[in-house]
Amino acid sequence: MESSSAKCPKWLAKYLKERGGSALFSQFMDWSLNDPVHGAYSSGNLKIGIDGDFVTSPSLSNDFAELLAVQLTEWFKDIDNDYSDCETISLVEIGPGEGNLSFDLLIAIESICPQKIFNKFELVLVEINDAMKERQKKKLISFSNIKIRWTDLDDLIKNPVSGVILAHEILDALPVERVILRNKELYQIGVTLREAETNYFLEYNDIPLTKKVRVKLEEYKDKCNLIIPPEDALDGWNSELHINLEPWFSKVSSSLKLGTLLIIDYALSANKYYNKIRRSGTIVSYRKQSMSNEVINLPGLCDITAHLCNEILIMEAEKNNLRFIGQTKQSLALLSLGLAGRISSLRDTCNSEISTALNKRESLLRLVDPNGLGGFRWFLFEVSPKDHVRKTVFDKSFLDEPID
Ligand SMILES: C[S@@+](CC[C@H](N)C(=O)[O-])C[C@H]1O[C@@H](n2cnc3c(N)ncnc32)[C@H](O)[C@@H]1O
Repeated sequence: MESSSAKCPKWLAKYLKERGGSALFSQFMDWSLNDPVHGAYSSGNLKIGIDGDFVTSPSLSNDFAELLAVQLTEWFKDIDNDYSDCETISLVEIGPGEGNLSFDLLIAIESICPQKIFNKFELVLVEINDAMKERQKKKLISFSNIKIRWTDLDDLIKNPVSGVILAHEILDALPVERVILRNKELYQIGVTLREAETNYFLEYNDIPLTKKVRVKLEEYKDKCNLIIPPEDALDGWNSELHINLEPWFSKVSSSLKLGTLLIIDYALSANKYYNKIRRSGTIVSYRKQSMSNEVINLPGLCDITAHLCNEILIMEAEKNNLRFIGQTKQSLALLSLGLAGRISSLRDTCNSEISTALNKRESLLRLVDPNGLGGFRWFLFEVSPKDHVRKTVFDKSFLDEPID
């Protein structure tokens, strides 16, 4: 495990004192990212992009959105064909960050979507952090001809939509619990406050498993055949549990009357995630483009992220009536949607534009780099009314094997 002491800012020391001096890791992570005043996202301290703290696929170039728009538009057409009385077709983006993906998707969708369907289109953004919401509003201000609104999942549950819900790099930011093996016994990891003269420090402590975590571990064993900790794991083995997926899927499922949910995120299969060789899980923090294992350092100034586990994610979604359609790696999804064609078309670039073409080629290759963004997973789920018989074949081009 990473080193166990870090400076604690005064605001966090106050919160910890109010809780008797310590908190579960998930609470620490939630404060660090989402505290309304000091959290890394809610305060606006974090910036996504090449000149910010970390990059995401849409922050590299508009190619990601243009390729994704091809698939989204097919789903809008499917919905329009199958449910012609559907008056509004929504694209909901959960966790839109700087608003880059929504911005580029609007341009791309408008250019390829049949007008009769685009007339029914609306963009809905779900963002819990005010500073990010403000940036998204600024970014999208020029689209005065398109219906755009911000809301939250509780409101969407009351007024569910038909369309597509997109969750790109948001589930990895949901607060996780961390567990650690000590003398053959599993504990939860907590964060505790130490006062030394006038300074405050954060340290890890071991906490007996809460009932919530015990129940989850039993569920993973029963439904995913997954034993945590893995057999023969060494003392000090630690990992993460996405205990917040269940309530998230419950809300998302109730928000979607009919249509699809596409999740794109860092993910690993259970045998790679909860493996005795993976001794410190997947949790890391990002600041100024550098990754660190010291995730309790600089709370409120760093992004903290943990990979998802494929099997657990699918199990939690299916429990909430989301029908699993398939999953693939981002590299294969983007190749199926036409990325190879974009790279080869760069061959026709004239000499004066060679440097732009080289930059474009680099960002396209970064999207499919197997050790980077290309290793991301795309998961597709569907919601359709009971006994509904499709008039059209459900398009899922991104799951097709790429030809190139
Ligand atoms: C890593 S960023 C992803 C940004 C964007 N999707 C992209 O790809 O560039 C995470 C975003 O999700 C937001 N967020 C975090 N937890 C959320 C939640 N429970 N519901 C909605 N948004 C959330 C953050 O404020 C931030 O805007």
